[in-house]
Parts: sequence; C-alpha cells; structure tokens
Amino acid sequence: MASDSDLKYMSGFGNEFASEDSRCPGALPEGQNNPQKCAYGLYAEQLSGTAFTAPREENQRSWLYRIRPSVLHEPFVKTERGNLTHDWDSVEPNPNQLRWHPFDIPQEKTDFVQGLSTVCGAGDPKCRSGVAVYIYVCNTSMGDKCFYSSDGDFLIVPQLGGLSITTEFGRMKVDPNEICVIQRGMRFNVAVTGDTRGYMLEVFNDHFVLPNLGPIGANGLANPRDFLTPTAWYEDRDVEQYTVISKYHGHLFSAKQKHSPFDVVAWHGNYAPYKYDLSKFMVINAVAYDHADPSIFTVLTCPSLKPGTAVADFVIFPPRWSVQEHTFRPPYYHRNCMSEFMGLIYGAYEAKEEGFRPGGASLHSLMTPHGPDAECFEKASSAELKAEKIATGTMAFMFESSYSMAVTEWGNQNKVDPNYSHCWQTLQKHFNSSWKPNGDGKQQKTFTF
Ligand code: FE2
Repeated sequence: MASDSDLKYMSGFGNEFASEDSRCPGALPEGQNNPQKCAYGLYAEQLSGTAFTAPREENQRSWLYRIRPSVLHEPFVKTERGNLTHDWDSVEPNPNQLRWHPFDIPQEKTDFVQGLSTVCGAGDPKCRSGVAVYIYVCNTSMGDKCFYSSDGDFLIVPQLGGLSITTEFGRMKVDPNEICVIQRGMRFNVAVTGDTRGYMLEVFNDHFVLPNLGPIGANGLANPRDFLTPTAWYEDRDVEQYTVISKYHGHLFSAKQKHSPFDVVAWHGNYAPYKYDLSKFMVINAVAYDHADPSIFTVLTCPSLKPGTAVADFVIFPPRWSVQEHTFRPPYYHRNCMSEFMGLIYGAYEAKEEGFRPGGASLHSLMTPHGPDAECFEKASSAELKAEKIATGTMAFMFESSYSMAVTEWGNQNKVDPNYSHCWQTLQKHFNSSWKPNGDGKQQKTFTF
C-alpha cells in the first residue's frame, strides 16, 4: 500500500463523483452508463445502494468499469465466523451498566475478519432492521482475501494502528482519530502493520447521513467538504486463489476466484466509501449555562423511519472549551431511551478519568442510570468555573442507538470490569433540610443578559 500522501481523494459528502485511474484515460464512458463496448474492454457493473425507485435525493448507486464483473467467482460456501454473531438470545439479558477493559490483541496471526467479535446489538439483517457493534483486533494483513457485508453499512473507528484499506473504489489509509464508512456490498481488503484494534458499528436499515443542522445554520459539526472518497485504482492481478468473504444473514461465506477483485479502472456515482478526520469536527456547545444534549456532537446519523430517532448516531466528545457559568459541567446524570455504547480512542474521558481506558468500552442500556463517578461529582461540584479547555488529548465516542441492544456471549465473557458499579457507590447524600437560599433569595446568581 502506498503511503497516505500518495493516495488521492475527492472531497464532499454524498456527491456524484467520477474517477478513473490515470493509467487508463477515457475509461469512463461519456454520456451513457452502459455502452455496447466499454473502453479498454472493460465490463460495466452497477452497484445499487438504494432501491431503484428511491426518491432522487436519497437515491444512491455507482457504475463500476472493471476488468471482470464481480459475478465471476465459484459458489459461496459457509465458513468459520469466529466470534461474529447476530444471535442476541444466546445469553440472559443484562440491564446493568457494563464496562470493558481494553480488549486483548491476539498473539497468533489474526487478520481483520478473523479478529472481529460482536459485543452487542439488536435486530435482524433479514428484515433490514437493527445494529451490531464489533471490536476488531488483528496483527496480520488479509492478503488475497476481501470482505463485504450484504447485511449493512460498516462504520469503522480505528483505535490502535492504522488500516490500509483497498476497496473497489480505490484505496484509503485510515488512522486512529479518523473513521471510515464502507457501505453494504462493497468489497474491501485491510492491511495492517503490527498490533491493531478498533471498533465497528454496522447498521442494517439504511445509510449514514450528516445530521440536519436546524438553527445552527449552514455550517458546523462535520462539514461535507471534509469527507474524503478514494479515487479509482485498479490492479490486474491473476492469482491461484483469491477468497471473497461475504457476511450474509450474520454468517460468513467464502467464494474462490482467480483474480483480484480490485480491478475497477473507473467509476462514477454517489454510492462510495469515505473517511473523515475527527479533528476537523466543528464543535458547537453551550456558552452561557447548562448543557446541550450530546446530540450536539453527532458526526453521522443513520435515521430510522421515526423522525429524529436514529437507528444509530455516531457521536464524539472532542477537545473543546468549557465556559458555562453556574453549571455542573460534566455530563449530567441521566437515563436514556436509547442504548449508549462508548469507546475511547485515546486519552482519559472527562466523566470517568479512571477505569474507562483507550481500547476499552462501556454500555449503558435503555433506561439504565449512569453519569459521573463519585470523584468526578465532588470535584466538579466545587471547582472554580473558569473558561478551560477540556478533553485535551482525548477522543471518546458513542454509538447511540434506538435499539435495545443485547450483549453477546463473547461480550459477557471478555474483559468485563466486574467493579464498574463501584464508581458510583461512594456517591454521598448531601441533602440538608435546613438549607437556606442566599441573601438575594436565589439559589444562584441572577443571570443578566
Ligand atoms: Fe449517557
């Protein structure tokens, strides 16, 4: 894989892109999608990301011009799926707050697909309804293997080690503090150098979109121009055996073929993978008092059919200024009608400086109470409220889903912190029935605007 600086990207979110490998100028047909004979003897193939008849503003498809059509493979046969599962009923439900220590990276050779484990999820890809959360740990490149999911779109969050991803649309280098989205059906190969770990969310329903900005206006949060889509790149490589791994109905299947699937010389369309650098997020927050809800930090959302209710949101907690007056500044105590799976890319999360570590995770399920630990509460309740930069050197994130996610057997048995609930057990009762308001009759200073 070439270095990141050698890779070429087009910027924009959901745009109609057109790209051809510079080695084959004129590979993209002009004025039509499916000529009787394509330039360079290529085959034309459409990849549909939405129903043919989806409304124009939602319609996603791309035309690929490739050396061989993707149908040229031997039949799929079922293969080992390791810890990957969508069986949400194999263990008893558990409404408790859960936290995981950093997940182990195996000693033995393990590639990206072999190192996938489902932690939690809900729903059924057969009904195109639900989500799955995975941890990946690997130390070996996939070699002559590629992977795709028929079940949903992947949002990948590297935590340790970069991913050199070859897709049918071109190549991407995705490092920690960047994310990428690889949609349903797209074949990709992951190369790594050494120990590698990260998180992955799969949504079965629909595609990720940028959240609406409402009164924020035309700019802010993740700006469309900062999303990068790879440019066309192909290899014309015949091999003894190339293995195509398909995730279908939550199982893995493999098919052999004798050539590289990354033989797309040119493509055009608006159904394409992309990556995004989280440091480019334009943070918006409360600047007078109290909190905006964490939805203000939404990078991408996969909407459900219920307006404003996400199949899953991808939310980050980036470095930012904290300036609110008269306010308990850490995240508030709450119970949510959504599931909250959190991970930490690096640094120390502001609400729990101990225990929640990079490469670990937490899950707060529907209506399960959570919030700052006792130490954080005491500190923040009496801290001097000056303007300060918070979350410096940190990037925590959340997959927030309206599905009530179940934890898998693997998730229940690996790296679970049995002492997580202890962090709240020392919360003190501060109630004082003889408390009196200040001299001005107000609990707090009157605001003057
Ligand atoms: Fe929460």
